[in-house]
Amino acid sequence: MYIVQIASELAPIAKVGGLADVVYGLSRELELRGNAVEIILPKYDRLWYDQIFGLAPTYNDLWVPWCDGAIRCTVWFGLVHGRKCYFIEPHSPEAFFERGTFYGQWDDPARFIFFSKAALEYLYRSGKRPDIIHVHDWQTAALPVLLYEMYQQAGMPNQRVCHTIHNFRHQGITDGYMLYATGLGHPERYFTHERLRDNFNHFALNLMKGGIVYSNFVTTVSPTHAWEARFTDQSFGFGETLHIHQSKFGGVLNGLDYEAWNPALDPMIAAPFDAVDIDRREANTKALRERCNLTDSDKPILAYVGRLDSQKGVHLIRHALFYAMNHDAQFVLLGSSPEPETNDHFRHIAGWLSPNRDIYIEVGFNEQLAHLIYAGAHGLVVPSIYEPCGLTQMMAMRYGAVPIVRRVGGLADTVFDWDYDSRPRDQRCGFVFDHPDFDGIESALQRFFGLYTNSPKLFRTLQRQAMGRDMSWRLPGQHYLDIYEHIRHR
Ligand code: ADP
Ligand code: GLC
Repeated sequence: MYIVQIASELAPIAKVGGLADVVYGLSRELELRGNAVEIILPKYDRLWYDQIFGLAPTYNDLWVPWCDGAIRCTVWFGLVHGRKCYFIEPHSPEAFFERGTFYGQWDDPARFIFFSKAALEYLYRSGKRPDIIHVHDWQTAALPVLLYEMYQQAGMPNQRVCHTIHNFRHQGITDGYMLYATGLGHPERYFTHERLRDNFNHFALNLMKGGIVYSNFVTTVSPTHAWEARFTDQSFGFGETLHIHQSKFGGVLNGLDYEAWNPALDPMIAAPFDAVDIDRREANTKALRERCNLTDSDKPILAYVGRLDSQKGVHLIRHALFYAMNHDAQFVLLGSSPEPETNDHFRHIAGWLSPNRDIYIEVGFNEQLAHLIYAGAHGLVVPSIYEPCGLTQMMAMRYGAVPIVRRVGGLADTVFDWDYDSRPRDQRCGFVFDHPDFDGIESALQRFFGLYTNSPKLFRTLQRQAMGRDMSWRLPGQHYLDIYEHIRHR
């Protein structure tokens, strides 16, 4: 099959969160299975250019119709760890992708609608006719609308679209300008409940809704979250839309790229190890302590890695930090937020606790430190309020750090409680709690510290079991191929 992934992130060159890991890992898995896979991305000024091999222009004068004229683009080609990537560079005064950042700009909807249109225009002009176009989140959700309303008649009758929703909270709410800018026009057609009109603001268009309505198949990133999206408030107002489109909606659990995330071969950690020689993991714990200026001791290290977004249960992360401090443990926090106040808050805590050499807080994004934390910490907290899938708990498990998670979304599908799960004991791999409050998280932390301190042998068994789980793209890759096959023939 010929598959094109179109997305706003790709690990490691353009990464904000898990979306980047998923686009990379899924693409590699699909290729390993003999499919032709290409990836189209914006040519951001802040791509990690060192990691792109052989970057060169491949299509020079791509004129993308926009507003009353057209914007000239250059399309670049390069390899990212073997993946074939095309980068769209528009030449216009708006400088859509030269903002020093990926998201958070006032004109984000226009930036990514333009990208979606340019990606389609490129496929169309260059004669590429993939069997499947796979788009991700609101940033590329306009693409299926444009495909079916404009490009299909123009000469792309056989292309089919799979739309994966990684986060329902960000939907791409915009106004009628997009209809004018893209040439779709016809506000009376698109400002309707069955097409793009937002379910709550009748003067707004909702790009993610367009993606749901127009795609041939829609997925989210775990089976539990697919259920939550339909039957709880976790799809932020899409319950009815998903009900209408239920026959083409489902959950596919994310995988981990086992090459990028392999403790036996990872160049970013201090000492390679695997589940058999797990004792060698200790060297990473020591290196983590040194890197974070923690006292050298045999206290357990609890950690958090991730965005400091309200989705992640920031108050519970902070509570876990103080709980560790008060229970003779160490804590390492690596994270950042797009909101300066949240970053300032954690910097303030860091400054205030700085004499305490059992706590380390780093506000920022640091891929290498993230790897060392998974390899060196004993536990990782993920107390999310909602979590479509979550990758950090899987990375932690793969590297022998025990996850302590809230039973929600993909966390519920990947972490099975050591004490209370109904699965056989040898499949249990972490600690799980239900209520997103202090008592809830303490009920799990207490059991985590108890096992670490009182039953080191069992703790090691738990680490081994976590490491032994198959979290690779093998099964989810097949699941996506089944979906592609299913829609291809419609
Ligand atoms: P989300 O996509 O909601 O942010 P995931 O758990 O799916 O959450 O994925 C987060 C990804 O981003 C993981 O690869 C994690 O290691 C990485 N990550 C998040 N924050 C940081 C950070 N501050 N520094 C390094 N890596 C980070
Ligand atoms: C989103 C979700 C996260 C998921 C990731 C990759 O950012 O918040 O739960 O793991 O996308 O699908």
